Amino acid sequence: MGRKFFTNIVGCTLIIYLSLSTFSLINVVAEEYGPAFYRQNIRPITNHDCARCHFSVFTDIRDKGGAHQMVCMKCHEIFHTYKPGKNWKDVVPDCADCHVLFHGADFPDCLRCHENAHAPKNSLSFRKIVKDCRKCHVDQATETTQNLSAHTATACSSCHHDKHGYIPACTECHSETHTPFIKNTGCNTCHPSHSPLVVSYTEDVADNICTGCHVDVGNQLSGSENKHAFLKCANCHANKHRYIPMCQECHGQEPHSKALLEKFSGCNDCHGNPHTLTLQLP
Ligand code: HEC
Ligand code: HEC
Ligand code: HEC
Ligand code: HEC
Ligand code: HEC
Ligand code: HEC
Ligand code: HEC
Ligand code: HEC
Ligand code: HEC
Ligand code: HEC
Ligand code: HEC
Ligand code: HEC
Repeated sequence: MGRKFFTNIVGCTLIIYLSLSTFSLINVVAEEYGPAFYRQNIRPITNHDCARCHFSVFTDIRDKGGAHQMVCMKCHEIFHTYKPGKNWKDVVPDCADCHVLFHGADFPDCLRCHENAHAPKNSLSFRKIVKDCRKCHVDQATETTQNLSAHTATACSSCHHDKHGYIPACTECHSETHTPFIKNTGCNTCHPSHSPLVVSYTEDVADNICTGCHVDVGNQLSGSENKHAFLKCANCHANKHRYIPMCQECHGQEPHSKALLEKFSGCNDCHGNPHTLTLQLP
């Protein structure tokens, strides 16, 4: 009983299979030769057709092609003409046809860095650009060499590591900071990244940032009763670290006569330390 049923199943399947395949065979052949076939309009080859055969190129462009998601034939005006011995470069397009020499005459060999033409940005090789930072980023290179600091001796790629365009956090290298670290922009308000010793700041800077390092001056000022104690450090030492103001910037010649002042080398002769203003008449 079971055996008979099995034979029936096999038989039916075989019949269905055979009839189907004969049917489709007839169908295909009917379309592929004879006057009817040759009367058809043949549509030009499409991007879709290229992609069917060159599936890996298609997936490259699909997944990481970026702005190169274009029609293949925009670049490959000529294709399938390769013969052994022919120069490959004569068959494939030249980047500069569309981009000119994008980074100038120093960088004619595009595929050295943009390793895959079908994914030009994604395939950018970090390893190969490490030596050339300064040639493309002249402004930053000049800034570090003209303002000597420990960062001048730090390789660009020590900070901008692993991936082109990566921005490091200051705390990757400076774990104990003298101001609370929230983000780089906090540090950058005083230290430009490429010239960190050119410290500048605004009048909003809190005194405790200064007195963290200048403990003595902080104590002098807060310990005195004079009217300078109401000023902030940055009101006098404005804009730039180590800037020493002239008393006249705020006081003019007042309140003394020119004749009196001419006899002394400066205001401090009498007024002493500007943080305490203890009068010391000579
Ligand atoms: C932006 C221009 C550009 C576009 C768009 C482009 N290609 Fe290419 N293709 C190139 C360049 C340049 C090369 C040569 C790469 C090399 O020398 O390594 C190349 C190489 C090839 C090659 C031979 C080498 C390989 O990678 O197998 C094939 C095949 C190819 N492309 C197919 C395609 C197909 C199919 C499409 C569309 C789905 C396409 N290309 C889209 C520029 C392009
Ligand atoms: C029927 C399959 C098929 C189709 C469709 C096809 N190619 Fe090719 N193509 C090949 C084969 C096979 C090669 C040679 C082996 C290789 O490089 O992969 C080749 C090679 C190439 C090459 C490199 C060698 C040369 O002589 O140019 C390019 C570029 C190329 N194809 C582009 C295209 C483009 C663009 C399209 C669509 C307009 C396309 N192909 C459609 C099969 C196909
Ligand atoms: C047929 C013209 C054409 C050719 C050839 C061509 N490109 Fe492009 N490429 C474009 C266009 C269009 C864009 C998008 C607009 C732009 O950025 O200029 C683009 C964008 C790019 C981008 C930015 C990609 C992104 O995702 O933002 C890079 C990098 C690039 N191309 C490199 C190359 C390299 C390297 C080659 C040679 C292997 C090349 N291109 C060949 C037309 C071309
Ligand atoms: C020394 C390595 C190197 C060489 C050689 C090189 N590039 Fe680039 N290219 C880069 C880097 C790095 C970028 C910046 C990518 C980014 O924005 O992250 C870039 C960016 C680009 C962009 C713009 C991408 C964007 O963000 O819009 C284009 C277009 C481009 N290159 C085309 C070319 C062409 C064309 C050539 C050859 C004439 C070439 N490159 C040669 C390294 C190189
Ligand atoms: C071939 C030229 C080229 C080379 C080599 C190159 N860059 Fe760039 N770089 C670019 C271009 C183009 C851009 C994007 C446009 C711009 O902002 O100038 C860029 C952008 C950057 C950015 C800014 C990213 C952002 O978010 O604003 C940093 C940081 C950077 N590059 C660092 C480097 C470092 C470090 C090196 C060396 C390891 C290097 N670059 C090598 C061309 C180059
Ligand atoms: C000590 C770490 C450090 C070193 C060394 C360093 N950078 Fe930077 N760079 C940064 C930081 C942080 C930023 C982002 C904040 C900023 O713009 O100042 C940056 C920003 C950049 C930018 C984006 C544009 C800009 O100015 O904001 C470029 C381009 C750049 N650096 C290139 C370079 C090059 C080229 C070198 C080597 C000559 C270099 N950097 C050395 C930390 C560094
Ligand atoms: C890749 C590591 C690295 C990163 C990231 C880094 N620095 Fe530095 N920096 C150093 C080294 C190394 C020194 C010298 C030794 C020291 O003072 O710790 C230094 C020194 C300094 C100095 C003193 C300069 C001198 O010549 O004595 C300042 C200020 C400074 N860094 C600020 C910053 C700021 C702000 C940031 C973030 C924008 C930053 N650094 C990011 C490595 C780094
Ligand atoms: C209000 C301004 C200001 C801010 C904000 C600031 N600094 Fe400074 N920093 C200074 C001054 C001023 C010096 C002393 C410079 C000198 O010696 O000429 C200094 C010195 C340094 C030094 C040199 C080593 C030392 O401690 O003497 C490093 C490293 C440093 N700062 C890192 C940082 C980092 C990282 C941040 C962010 C968390 C930061 N700074 C925020 C003003 C500031
Ligand atoms: C990270 C420590 C640090 C911080 C923060 C700091 N300084 Fe300094 N400052 C120094 C050092 C180091 C010197 C040099 C001392 C020397 O030469 O004896 C200095 C020197 C000075 C001088 C004297 C310049 C001279 O010619 O004698 C002034 C003024 C000064 N700082 C003001 C400030 C002010 C205002 C702030 C806050 C905005 C500040 N400092 C924050 C470390 C710091
Ligand atoms: C009224 C303006 C004024 C204020 C406010 C002021 N300073 Fe000064 N400071 C000066 C002048 C002027 C000098 C130069 C004194 C001299 O020539 O001997 C000076 C000198 C200094 C010096 C170097 C000499 C020394 O005494 O060590 C440091 C450091 C300094 N100030 C830090 C600070 C700090 C930190 C604050 C805030 C707590 C501050 N100053 C507030 C005017 C001011
Ligand atoms: C940033 C501006 C500024 C600078 C720079 C400055 N002062 Fe003053 N000074 C003031 C102000 C504001 C007062 C309070 C004026 C008032 O209340 O009428 C003051 C008050 C004084 C007083 C009166 C103190 C008191 O307690 O009655 C003396 C004395 C004085 N300054 C001397 C100096 C001398 C000397 C210098 C230079 C070493 C100097 N100042 C630099 C802003 C400044
Ligand atoms: C010969 C010594 C001497 C010299 C030099 C001197 N002063 Fe005075 N100054 C005095 C005396 C004394 C007073 C009165 C002190 C008091 O009333 O407690 C005074 C008072 C002041 C006052 C407070 C005036 C008020 O109305 O309370 C200011 C502001 C002042 N001087 C600024 C300056 C400035 C700025 C200079 C330099 C341009 C300077 N002094 C040079 C001796 C001097």
